[in-house]
Amino acid sequence: MCGIVGYIGSNDALPVLINGLRKLEYRGYDSAGIATIMNNELNIVKTKGRLSDLEEKLNGMNLGKSTIGIGHTRWATHGAPSDLNSHPHTNMSKTIAVVHNGIIENYIELKEELQNKGYKFASETDTEVIAHLADMYYNGDLIDTLIKVISRLKGSYAIGMISNEHPEDFVAVRKDSPLIVGLGTGENFIASDIPAILEHTRKIYLLEDNEIVHLTKSGVTICDINKNKITKEIFNVEWDVEAAEKGGYEHFMLKEMNEQPKVVHDTIAQRIINGKINFENFSVNRDTIKDINKIFIVACGSAYHAGMVGKYLIEHLAEIPVEVDIASEFRYRNPIVDEKTLIIIISQSGETADTLAALREAKKRNGKILAIVNVVGSSIAREADDVIYTWAGPEIAVASTKAYTTQLSIMYLLSTYFAELKGKITTNEAKKLVDELLDIPEKLKSVMSRASEIKELGSKYYKERDIFFLGRGLDYMVAMEGSLKLKEISYIHSEAYAAGELKHGTIALIEQGTVVFALATQEALFEKMLSNIKEVKARGASIIAIAQEGNEQLKDIADHVFYIPKIEDKLASILTVVPLQMFAYYCATIKGCDVDKPRNLAKSVTVE
Ligand code: M6R
Repeated sequence: MCGIVGYIGSNDALPVLINGLRKLEYRGYDSAGIATIMNNELNIVKTKGRLSDLEEKLNGMNLGKSTIGIGHTRWATHGAPSDLNSHPHTNMSKTIAVVHNGIIENYIELKEELQNKGYKFASETDTEVIAHLADMYYNGDLIDTLIKVISRLKGSYAIGMISNEHPEDFVAVRKDSPLIVGLGTGENFIASDIPAILEHTRKIYLLEDNEIVHLTKSGVTICDINKNKITKEIFNVEWDVEAAEKGGYEHFMLKEMNEQPKVVHDTIAQRIINGKINFENFSVNRDTIKDINKIFIVACGSAYHAGMVGKYLIEHLAEIPVEVDIASEFRYRNPIVDEKTLIIIISQSGETADTLAALREAKKRNGKILAIVNVVGSSIAREADDVIYTWAGPEIAVASTKAYTTQLSIMYLLSTYFAELKGKITTNEAKKLVDELLDIPEKLKSVMSRASEIKELGSKYYKERDIFFLGRGLDYMVAMEGSLKLKEISYIHSEAYAAGELKHGTIALIEQGTVVFALATQEALFEKMLSNIKEVKARGASIIAIAQEGNEQLKDIADHVFYIPKIEDKLASILTVVPLQMFAYYCATIKGCDVDKPRNLAKSVTVE
């Protein structure tokens, strides 16, 4: 769970590395470091802390111009954040430097073997074995050395390696951790993610596992572990560098929340052709839908919450039974999957370790895999049988907002699509839903335009210790997402409850002044929800209700009602979640929390 960047060319490598790392800080930010080569010597500068700490350290030094370098931003797994545990790591004679993202699972045995041979370790990291193995196998050829090194590694890795004996070239490889190659003119790059190098090039190679890359300033060659040359297609990045930056907003999260009307529009509208839902190159069609008799939706975090909404919709509209699983549970619970099972894997990053492992588990059991993914070319996208991209653009803030609402958008499209294919809704009903879907972006804009109303609630309640979120049906699923958002960025303890479940225990926690969000957008469940609201109100709770415009009944009982525009109940979640995202955002900013990089969290969880 780290970010890697590498450069070779004629320009000064240092600013390229630092700017690249800045774009990768979302992948980890507890330490940072760089290695460059000057006068045939390796310069390593690294530090615990943020990238700004590394910059400060570098400012006090005069490294001089180097035209080759690797950089790293870390999120600790083995060994606490510290200067010594920061990357790059080197062999003992400091002739080889490596940066690594992933986990070397057999590092303890490798470490013992190396120590027995006299290698001394400077850090507690798993990565350091890579540097010493490289030393052991080095024969003057970096590619040979890297191939021998990775033949000893178990686990996941993206590795960049330079040596002072090779100031004109460097090597890299990946397995189960992301790594891309950027192709410039007279300069070339590696990085964990595209935004890191987008200001330099839009031409990218998306690497597959165990492809060995050799970079010089004038070219890039790729081979397999037997040194057979591999020819790859160039992927042209079409989105703008601006898209990965804050664009004037104070935080990425705020920017990303505000992008929701646009990205939801992109995700939905481009899939509606002549009033009909169309998924390009999707193998589930009128003929093949009969081959699916069960669906699993598997994901983590917010993506899991989107999956819960998906279950509700697919079961209601298409009448196919759906189970939703947390990926880390699914992979170990002997799920009953066969060739008639469709496994829908949802992931923003497409790199979440548990989700990827669940995909592989389902594949082993002959399930058919559909990935709903944001990051193009990510591992999950590559390994699935079918992919539907969410087209949310890069999501940098750790707290997922626009990725979640685009995941919901795909769930709306998919459930309607399945329902129509199975003849469970008429063409007219499908058309009505499609028309409603096309109206969502405007409704989202209208919700966003009332941010100040939510900001006021944030300033009133940001000091609370516990906040509860209640809902029934689809509202309960959104309650879970609202609660997660609040916890992760504002550190306020919160719980989401199916409102009917409250009186089976949790209501004991409600006392005078306890803040309760009551989501009440579902007409069919409204009366029941109203009773639950009255129950907590009677015990002294302060109620913030969310309801559809026109609902007058809540006005008297709630302390505040936030109205979302009128919408078909089945589609309300995408609007209901927005005030909850904003509430979490304002509580966190008013408290002075680091909204985009909340403590203990990283954007992409590529370890188990
Ligand atoms: O990249 P993924 O969608 O697979 O990530 C899954 C979760 O880690 C992610 O949704 C996480 O829960 C977010 N921080 C929530 O805001």
